[in-house]
Amino acid sequence: MRFETNRPPSWQACIACGNETPELDPHPRCTVCGGLLEVHHRPPNLTREELLQKFTERRGGPRPGATASGVWRFREVVLPSATEVVSHPEGNTPLLHRPALDRWTGMLRLLLKHEGHNPTGSFKDRGMTVGVTQACRIGASAVACASTGNTAASLAAYAAQAAIPALVFVPKDAVSMGKLAQSLAYGARTLLVRGDFDACLQLVEAASARLGVYLLNSINPFRLEGQKTIVLEMLQQLGWDAPDWIVLPAGNLGNTAAFGKAIREAKEWGLISRVPRLAAVQAEGAAPFVRSFEEKFATRHTVKAETVATAIRIGDPASYDRAVLAIRETDGVVLSVSDAELMEAKAAVDGCGVGCEPASAAAVAGLRALVRRGVVDPSQRVVVVLTGHVLKDPGALLQYHREIDPPPPGANRPVEIEPTLAEVEAQLRRPG
Ligand code: F0G
Repeated sequence: MRFETNRPPSWQACIACGNETPELDPHPRCTVCGGLLEVHHRPPNLTREELLQKFTERRGGPRPGATASGVWRFREVVLPSATEVVSHPEGNTPLLHRPALDRWTGMLRLLLKHEGHNPTGSFKDRGMTVGVTQACRIGASAVACASTGNTAASLAAYAAQAAIPALVFVPKDAVSMGKLAQSLAYGARTLLVRGDFDACLQLVEAASARLGVYLLNSINPFRLEGQKTIVLEMLQQLGWDAPDWIVLPAGNLGNTAAFGKAIREAKEWGLISRVPRLAAVQAEGAAPFVRSFEEKFATRHTVKAETVATAIRIGDPASYDRAVLAIRETDGVVLSVSDAELMEAKAAVDGCGVGCEPASAAAVAGLRALVRRGVVDPSQRVVVVLTGHVLKDPGALLQYHREIDPPPPGANRPVEIEPTLAEVEAQLRRPG
C-alpha cells in the first residue's frame, strides 16, 4: 500500500521494501518483508522561522502552549497528530562544559549533552514518552521490551503512569543493580532471562507477535521519533548552528539511527545548513557494527558480546540497517574502545563532578581516540552525548574504585577509620 495523494500527517514505511502502513498500525516490523519501519511526517506547513519560533515559545515557562517536555516541544516533527500524551515530563537536559574534560580528551572546548538528567536517568525516556503515548493511541492491552536495563526502567515508569501492564525481559546476570531496582520499583513484571540481551530480544519479539503485546523496543519506530529530540534540543541550545561532530555510544543502534534521521530531517526542513558527522562508539567486546564499518558495511556481523558496559553488551544490533544509513548520510565513523579505556573515561567524567554510567563514558573515550588519531581536530565543535546517570551502575563503579592491583587511573578508594580525630587528620594530610 502506498499513500499517493492527501498524505496524512504521519505514516509508517518499511526502509527495505518501501511498503507503507497507517500511523496507527501496531505491527513492530514490515508485514510484507519483515524489514524495519520508519515514521514519516508530512513536512510542517510552516516556514523555517515559524517552526523555530514555535519551538522557542514552547521552551518552558507558564505561557499558553508552552510545554515542560523537551520532546513534545518539537511535536510537529515527532508525532504531530498526538493530542493526549504520556509525559513525565522529560528532556530539557543540559549542555555542560568542564575544562578538565577538555584536557582529558585533548579538545579545546568539548560540550556534553547529559541525558542522564532525564526522569529515569537515561535518554530512553525521550523515546518512551512517544512509545507509550502510541501504545495508548492504539489501545494496547500490555507493553513489553527486551532490555539491558535502561529501556526496562523507562518502560516501567511510563507504563505505570499510563496504567498499562508492562513486561520486561532482561538478561539474568548482566543488568546493573540500579536499573533492575527501577523496573521493580515502577511495577513492571520483570523477567530475568537465562540468556543474553540478544536472546531476550528474540524472545520478546516472538512473544509480542504471539501474545498481542505491543512491542516497545527501539525497533519500534515511534521510540526513535522521541530520541530524535536529543539532537533537536542540542541544536536549539546551539542556536541551530550544528556542531562538527556528535559522538554517542552504540549498542542496539536505535540511537544512532534516530540521530541520523533527526539530522536528515533538520537539513531537509531547513533547520540547519550543514550536517554534523556522527561518531558511534562501541565497546571492544561488543563491536559488530565496527567490524561492518571497517568493511564498508559489506557484511552484517554478529558477535557474542562481553563488556563491563552492560548497557551496550549487544552482539546483534536490531537497528543495524537504519544505523548504516545514518553513518553513510553523515559521513560518520564507527570505532571501539576497550573496557579499561571506557572505565578510565568514566573516572574522568565522574571526577569532574558530572558523572555518567560506563556505556556513556565509551563515547568520551572514543572522542579521545579520534583526537589522537587526527580524525577530530581539537578546535572542532564536538558534542558528546552522555546517555545515562552515574547511579545507574553502582556495582561497576565501586569495583573500579576498590581495585588495588594496581589501582586504575582516577581510582578513589574508600578508607575505613577508627572514630578518632587523629585518623581524620592523617587522612587530611595524605597526599591527593
Ligand atoms: N547508553 C546507554 C546508557 C544505554 O542504555 C544504551 C542502550 C546505549 C547507550 C546504546 O543505545 O542501543 O540505541 O545503540 N540501552 C538499551 C537498553 C539497549 O535496553 O536499555 P542503542
